[in-house]
This record gives sequence, structure tokens and C-alpha cells, in this order.
Amino acid sequence: MTIEFDGQVAIVTGAGNGLGKSHALELAKRGAKVVVNDFGGARDGSGGSLSPAEEVVAEIRAAGGEAIANGANVANYEDCEKMVAQAVAEWGRVDILINNAGILRDRSFGKMTTADWDSVVAVHLNGSANCSRAVWNQMKEQNYGRILMTTSTSGVYGNFGQANYGAAKMGVVGLMNTLCIEGAKNNIQISCLAPTAATRMTEDIMTPDMLEALKPKYVTPAAVFLVSRDAPNHTVMFAGAGTYATMEIRESKGKHLAEDQRNADGIAESFSAISDMSNADVFYTGTEHVIKIVQNATKS
Ligand code: NAI
Repeated sequence: MTIEFDGQVAIVTGAGNGLGKSHALELAKRGAKVVVNDFGGARDGSGGSLSPAEEVVAEIRAAGGEAIANGANVANYEDCEKMVAQAVAEWGRVDILINNAGILRDRSFGKMTTADWDSVVAVHLNGSANCSRAVWNQMKEQNYGRILMTTSTSGVYGNFGQANYGAAKMGVVGLMNTLCIEGAKNNIQISCLAPTAATRMTEDIMTPDMLEALKPKYVTPAAVFLVSRDAPNHTVMFAGAGTYATMEIRESKGKHLAEDQRNADGIAESFSAISDMSNADVFYTGTEHVIKIVQNATKS
């Protein structure tokens, strides 16, 4: 076993079930002390109980690992602050945060209520930001941190009935982009995982064959790799059914238009050149894009 977490402390949110549970067990097996967070609600976020987290803690301890349970609702910033304080009081540091907690309120967009929208954004996007912000200064002080966001194919590509969920899931990719820039000087790295797995979240949209192929244990290696000491930074990795892939946001070289062409008709005429993705650029900061367009303007 080459990847290990001896001496490291991890927080995994939503770790009472599904993928989070699988991540927490594997981190503990590889030496991490784990805060198993779960507020223990139903798939739509209703209800709540500490018992799923406590059961996972018991499983980790029975296998000889170290873990504590936490019932924070990640949508509540004060809860997240207390969770980080609990980890620091117990073990003195937090090296890893996996933002995994999630709920679903699927509905086609025309039928979606404000409550459907707000509750999903509150858990996935605000929850990931809350936990990351609560742990941020601790990681800065330590000069070390690994944060993993959980995105989704529904975010990066889209899925019927998941406008709320998809928007929140692409939101965490945006959160990663800026946190990578701000965390760089303190060795804080942020990446995203886009899983596909058979859990209670997906059990009613998959056939038995699919459920068999999509075990959470095939996703967890990607999560563990992305929060390890030598992990790549700023990586969006898909994981499911044994296939691992990465994605990136690319920008076409574009076309610098003469002043008299800078109108809707000029864009229509040049659209195939403007949108030609051969030789596309990959940028890591917004500034890089600004430099490109200013250089184009200066050259002309
Ligand atoms: P799951 O429903 O089995 O587990 C999610 C856990 O998060 C539950 O234990 C739940 O109690 C907890 N949770 C929900 N709201 C919370 C809150 N406010 N505070 C603390 N804990 C909370 O679902 P699954 O499939 O394991 O999902 C884990 C993550 O992976 C989610 O972020 C989900 O959106 C994402 N994902 C899952 C996919 C899949 O194929 N299963 C596909 C793409 C993304």
C-alpha cells in the first residue's frame, strides 16, 4: 500500500451512507483519523439523526481505526465551524476535507419550486463552501490541505429534472477554481470528483445489472488518490464502474475581429472560426484569458 494517511485527520461529510461511508472507511484503513459527518436525513434532506454516522464510526473502530461522529448540517455555517473545532480539539489538525454530503429534489424545471431549488443549492454548493471556509484558516496555518468537492455528470453535462442539482454541482467546480488560486501558497489543493455509483440516490433509476457494476468501492479509489499527499491539483475526475477519466474546461483560440466586424452579423460570419476548438487553450486563472485578449488587441 503506497498511499497512506498516517498522522493525518480527515473530515468526510455525508459519510453515514453510500459514497461518503465508503470514502471514510478507506481513509481510515489507510491510517487517517476520520470525522464521520452525517446529519442522517432522508434522500430529500428531511429528518435527521446521528445514528448513520455513529454506525460508520463503530465499523472503523472495530477494524482498529480512529473515528468520531459529527451530526453537522453542512448547510449551516456555524455547524461546520463546530465540526472543524471538534476535529481540532480531538486531534489537533485537519488535513483532508471531502465535501460529499448531498440531497436530491428532482423535478422538471417548469414544476420546480423555490424550496426545491434553495434546499439543493444550500446543501451541495453552500455546504461545500461552508465546510471549506470553516477549515480554510486551519489548513493555512498548517501549510497543508487537501479538499475534494463532489460534482456530477449532471453538473458538467446536464440531466433532465436536475436543474437545481446540476447548477449546484457545476458551482462547486467554480469554487474549486478560485480556491486553487487562493490556496496555492499554503499547499492547499482542491479537486473535484464526479462519481457514478449505486447508492440510495440512484437506486430507483438503475437496473440490477447497473447497480452491480456501479459499486461505491470503485469510486472511492479516485477520492483517496485526489486527497493524497502527492495528488495532482485542480483535477476533475470521473469515477464509476471501473472507468476513471478527467475533464477540463477549454477555450477556443477565438478570432480577433476588426472594429467594423464587431457586431452580431460579423460574429455570425466568423462563428465557425470563433468556435473552432482545435488548438484550444486551457487556462487556470481568469487573468490568463484577459492577457490573451489584450495581446490580440495589441497585436492588431
Ligand atoms: P447518499 O444519499 O447515499 O449519501 C448522501 C449522504 O449525505 C447521506 O448519508 C445524507 O444523510 C448526507 N447528507 C445529506 N444532506 C446533508 C447535510 N445537509 N449535512 C450533512 N449530511 C448530509 O448519496 P450518494 O450517492 O452516496 O452521494 C454522495 C455524493 O455524491 C453526493 O454529493 C451526490 O450528489 C454525489 N453524486 C452521486 C452520484 C451517484 O451516482 N451516486 C452521481 C453524482 C454525484
